[in-house]
Amino acid sequence: MTSIAAVILSAGKGTRMKSARPKVLHQACGKPMVSYVIDAARNSGAKQVILVVGHGCEMVREELGENFDYAVQEPQLGTGHALQIALPAVDSSCDKLLVLCGDTPLLTVPTLVQLSSYFAKTNAACTILTAMMDIPKGYGRIVRDEAGNVKKIVEEKDATATEKDIREINTGAYFFDKKALLSVISNLTPNNAQGEYYLTDAIAFLIDKGHVVNAYVAPDAREIMGVNDRIQLSYAAKVLRWRKLLALMASGVTIIDPDSTYIDEDVSVGPDTIIEPQTFLRGVTSLGDNCHIGPDCDITDTKIGDHCRVNRAVLWGSQIGSNCTIGPFAYLRPGSVLADKVKVGDFVELKKSTVGAGSKIPHLAYVGDAEIGSGVNVGCGTITCNYDGFAKYPTIIEDGAFIGSNTNLVAPVKIGKNSIVAAGSTITSEVPEDALALGRARQVNKEGWAAQKRKMEAEKKKDQPK
Ligand code: UD1
Ligand code: CA
Repeated sequence: MTSIAAVILSAGKGTRMKSARPKVLHQACGKPMVSYVIDAARNSGAKQVILVVGHGCEMVREELGENFDYAVQEPQLGTGHALQIALPAVDSSCDKLLVLCGDTPLLTVPTLVQLSSYFAKTNAACTILTAMMDIPKGYGRIVRDEAGNVKKIVEEKDATATEKDIREINTGAYFFDKKALLSVISNLTPNNAQGEYYLTDAIAFLIDKGHVVNAYVAPDAREIMGVNDRIQLSYAAKVLRWRKLLALMASGVTIIDPDSTYIDEDVSVGPDTIIEPQTFLRGVTSLGDNCHIGPDCDITDTKIGDHCRVNRAVLWGSQIGSNCTIGPFAYLRPGSVLADKVKVGDFVELKKSTVGAGSKIPHLAYVGDAEIGSGVNVGCGTITCNYDGFAKYPTIIEDGAFIGSNTNLVAPVKIGKNSIVAAGSTITSEVPEDALALGRARQVNKEGWAAQKRKMEAEKKKDQPK
């Protein structure tokens, strides 16, 4: 059994991005572009992934984490040098190397699988992933002999006029037999137009040694596009976005207007869910079956159950059960956890609060740091006064409680089970179970006062000089 190690070259600066961030961290559809390459490598069978980093390597490590290995290339002396740096990190159980560039997020798993099987089938020391380009400008060209066998790769800057006419280009993705590569990798020299150690020179060395080197032509040349600037980044993001939308539609999700729907790569959506226009589903968001989302929803890192209706809402870092209704115009901030059959209506803001099954917060409320039981009704205009300018305090509303409209709940405070809080109350201390709490001044009616006032004002007016 032979194993594959993937080496992803990403030490370059990416000058054309004009950015303080390393190129490979720039995002497309909610994910750094290099993460697509890492995932493609893994999903096509790589057992080990080694990322070659250089420029901004600390930032790269911090953002991508330690789920794979790193090799630090400092200074960056070319693609051949980058691979030399990575080789000592390759696990001894891996004897095949998949070499990729970190800036090609459109490469697909089927293409890499086909490259891998062609490499294995032909017993090659190296199989190059190539592509036919109408305009091959900027790429290394594949030079073949009269019999059509690969002879070498020549970089554009070193190419003759005839070589520049070659339309078959090097995509920068290769499979290598590790042992064969090790036998030539130290022979590279920087004797070329750019003064760099070219990985591509290893090809001619392998052929010289009598090894089999061949090419697998990518079926779709658009897949191998490298992202060098923000214009190409936006193009790649668009392709990735459409791939995601098409996959979701194919799996049973209705997307009313794909042109105005933005769904990040790691989002999952259950079948028979309908997504209306101007909806953004970001980060690690998951939607259940039979939901109806949108229009105008912005949902980030949120889990939603089945049969939910979310309309014109911003949800962030929250968890929603099944059969819930949210919006229009609701704002759920991180830590909001809704059980099943909860209603959060118009102009309601929730923060770090749990809401039990069947509870309703139908309109105009702020609920923060609260623990709400089941079957609770929070009346219109209710506010949890959770902050005294120094610290945040909790509000507990037990099962079955009824909070009348326009109530202030001054935290920390607890509202007992099945109790009723009168509308307009300001509640500052615990309400016992089954009690009625009134926290407002008693009403005084002054009989005839208004009529008398009108009469007085009218007489005043009569006495005034015209
Ligand atoms: C390279 C290939 C070229 C191919 C093209 C495909 C060489 C010599 N040329 O050229 O044949 O057509 O890719 O896009 O390999 N990198 C490092 N360390 C370095 C230099 C580069 O890690 O010292 C990384 C970069 O971050 C990048 C990748 O290697 O991800 C390719 O480097 P780049 O400078 O873009 O190579 P090209 O000139 O495009
Ligand atoms: Ca490049």
